Amino acid sequence: MVEIKPAKGKLGILIPGLGAVSTTFIAGVEMVRKGLSKPYGSVTQMQTIRLGRRDENRTPMIKDFVPLANLDDIEFAAWDIFEDNAYEAAKKAGVLSHEDLERVRDFMKTIKPMKAVFDHQYVKNIEGPNVKKGKTKKELAEQLREDIRNFKKEKNLDRMVTVWCGSTETYQENGSVHETIEAFEKGLEKNDATISPSMIYAYASIMEGVPFAHGAPHSAVDIPALAELSNKKGVPISGKDFKTGQTLMKTILAPGLKSRMIGVRGWFSTNILGNRDGLVLDDAGSFKSKEVSKRGCLDYIFQPDKYPDLYRDMYHKVRINYYPPKGDDKEGWDHIDIFGWLGYNMQIKVNFLCKDSILAAPIVLDLALFMDLAQRAGLKGIQEWLSFYFKSPLHAENIYPEHDLFIQHMKLKNMLRHLKGEELITHLGLEYYD
Ligand SMILES: NC(=O)c1ccc[n+]([C@@H]2O[C@H](COP(=O)([O-])OP(=O)(O)OC[C@H]3O[C@@H](n4cnc5c(N)ncnc54)[C@H](O)[C@@H]3O)[C@@H](O)[C@H]2O)c1
Repeated sequence: MVEIKPAKGKLGILIPGLGAVSTTFIAGVEMVRKGLSKPYGSVTQMQTIRLGRRDENRTPMIKDFVPLANLDDIEFAAWDIFEDNAYEAAKKAGVLSHEDLERVRDFMKTIKPMKAVFDHQYVKNIEGPNVKKGKTKKELAEQLREDIRNFKKEKNLDRMVTVWCGSTETYQENGSVHETIEAFEKGLEKNDATISPSMIYAYASIMEGVPFAHGAPHSAVDIPALAELSNKKGVPISGKDFKTGQTLMKTILAPGLKSRMIGVRGWFSTNILGNRDGLVLDDAGSFKSKEVSKRGCLDYIFQPDKYPDLYRDMYHKVRINYYPPKGDDKEGWDHIDIFGWLGYNMQIKVNFLCKDSILAAPIVLDLALFMDLAQRAGLKGIQEWLSFYFKSPLHAENIYPEHDLFIQHMKLKNMLRHLKGEELITHLGLEYYD
């Protein structure tokens, strides 16, 4: 059994980006705390975990099995380039109904964004006034660190976690400044153009000993320099890109098709969405980050190198189209050309009318609580067991990422069993027939 420190005192959740996802998350937590709704979609709050043999009937709630922070003990802080408080930002995001938002209005108004670290080169389609100034990126990192310390002091917190809910930054390949922590810190001092704002947040967070979960697809905490720093400092990190909507559907469907050795000739995914995220993704650089993140999962699930007859020639295309009238109510279409026995063709069509932020909000909650648990359990560096929540799961250098939702789910639950010294469940089940 791993020694886990108790979840005593308050947990502070720091959020870069006070937009659709984060305001939906914060408002939701407050509504649940007030008894106005149930935490639907949250594994930490609603799921059980089976322990031991199937005939033992031991299935506690996950939140009763591992020591997680209580929702009543959570405080929030955010940074954004706009000055709107969480109430105004949520209103503009247009996810929650007027009625729901009014019920948590007073609380939401108390969350005012701190000045952000922002660089227009990394997010081309928005610009805002609430931005920090500093001569160097090192100075900006110091300002963020001060924000983190102030938050801890002001709210009398015991622990903190950071969850990136800011916009998707432009795509870039790693360069030498991202390779080691020495090069990265020199780069901060020299204002290296390839150090993005989100990397500065991740650096500041890790330096303060605060776990960092990355909800967007661009490079940030996953660069080798910061992964190294997180190991050195004993801080958990996880990412990247919340697995919601279309990719969630893909990683539900694809493992099923593959398990039955059904071939796939093509998978065309297209979406229309009209929120600010959609506006940001309308820029080619930000879209590239998202496209790379969304495309990866099928290759890893289908393993075309191992199953060339079934998947080698699969044509996979992903489109995201900004269409303002849709707002946060995204519509995604998947057209899947499959083939079976004797190569006969069939088709599957999925039309998913989803609400992106409604799917993402419980992920933010689960990640915050599990990352805090990880830290109290002495885990550091990449938390692969949290792959379940991400489109592009971070992983050790020498292995491929696990995208299959069902394997990810088993991995997550086995990690919780491992932490508590319970037997891992293999589903072999021979013991019932002895
Ligand atoms: N909603 C989903 O289902 C989903 C799924 C996967 C990933 N994501 C990612 O989560 C992020 C948030 O999504 P959203 O719908 O809330 O977007 P949003 O545009 O509503 O919110 C993002 C906020 O981040 C702010 N921001 C941008 N750069 C910043 C910086 N450097 N510092 C502080 N704030 C900054 C923006 O001003 C904006 O208010 C996006 O990157 C999105 O791609 C969302």
